[in-house]
Amino acid sequence: MECATLPHQKSVHVLGSQGWVSRGKVSCGRAPAVPYQTPPARLPHGARRPALRADGPACGAGVASSGSAGHGSGPTVTLNNGVKMPMLAFAANMYGPDVCRRATAHALTAGFRNIWSSEIIGDGCQRAQREAMDASGLARSELFVAGTVMNPQCTASDCYQTTMSQARNQLEMLSSDNTLDMLMLDYPSSAGCDGIEGQWKALEELYRAGNVRVIAVSNFRDEHLTCIARNNSATLPAVNQMNYNTGNADRSVLQSNEKFGITVQAYSPLGSGGVLQSPKLHSIAKKHGKTPAQVALRWLTQQGVAVALASTSLEHLKQDVDISSINLSKEDMRELGSSGSEPM
Ligand SMILES: NC(=O)c1ccc[n+]([C@@H]2O[C@H](COP(=O)([O-])OP(=O)(O)OC[C@H]3O[C@@H](n4cnc5c(N)ncnc54)[C@H](OP(=O)(O)O)[C@@H]3O)[C@@H](O)[C@H]2O)c1
Repeated sequence: MECATLPHQKSVHVLGSQGWVSRGKVSCGRAPAVPYQTPPARLPHGARRPALRADGPACGAGVASSGSAGHGSGPTVTLNNGVKMPMLAFAANMYGPDVCRRATAHALTAGFRNIWSSEIIGDGCQRAQREAMDASGLARSELFVAGTVMNPQCTASDCYQTTMSQARNQLEMLSSDNTLDMLMLDYPSSAGCDGIEGQWKALEELYRAGNVRVIAVSNFRDEHLTCIARNNSATLPAVNQMNYNTGNADRSVLQSNEKFGITVQAYSPLGSGGVLQSPKLHSIAKKHGKTPAQVALRWLTQQGVAVALASTSLEHLKQDVDISSINLSKEDMRELGSSGSEPM
């Protein structure tokens, strides 16, 4: 795929031979067909607005500390429809099936219970992930399993159909009973609001039919979320997966989602490994007796941001899931966030 974004996006990832590659602004999408309007801030029926915390421990509204939902290690977050999601997700990259199976098994051994699987990693890798989950001996109820649909090129007339067909494929690929905990739309349709409405209608139908417990989006900026929210009877997304980390700390990403009661899940939470070079991160990690990766992840969860991270190393995965005891001070949080495009 050459390009999957809209012109206003600040930084994007594109798919290269090694998986997602971070790129600067890409201007290949079409502007949405319908002028964007800001809807009144509203939450789904019975929803609780998750707290965004830039400081203090990660135990505010919506965020529970380690193990409280019976989902393995690590904190959980209560989403806007009441479903509890483990905040730390293992997210396989475009590995071959063997690496994919082994890395997923390592993640489960380390304590990850949220397995976020992307359509983009391919059938072989996705099937290997399911095999690893089946072989783990863990009950299905102990896991939170997510799939994605990626069809940003769909047109207003076929977005519903292609989303539904790809979604059914994800259900078949990742589950034995046609259900998933979360289904995520990865990228809005470049056909604007009409396309996005078609994409979202398919996910809402699967949600209402009970095939998925949570419907979610990725790379949806304010104007894309508005396309969904302008329909008063729409079920709003519970999660928006975005590029957010200590090296890319644009807090407007959090603010725009908070307005809709949506939990942000950070992809590339370690900047694909790049943020681990930061001297500031090293010095704060040393002070806490933790690794730079642990502190970079804790910086996210302490703000109420969930993470989708990749690793093939059991040792790294064990570290990555063991972050709940870290308590970053206000000063630590501010310093770590100041390398982003907008200071905290
Ligand atoms: N929705 C989207 O548009 C989108 C865009 C980009 C990426 N993604 C997804 O986000 C997920 C993660 O992205 P990512 O791979 O770019 O980035 P990442 O999770 O930020 O970084 C992964 C890198 O960090 C290293 N790492 C992990 N834990 C470590 C530790 N404790 N110490 C040292 N190094 C550690 C890994 O190496 P080792 O293997 O050696 O541990 C790997 O090289 C992937 O599944 C990707 O598909 C989604």
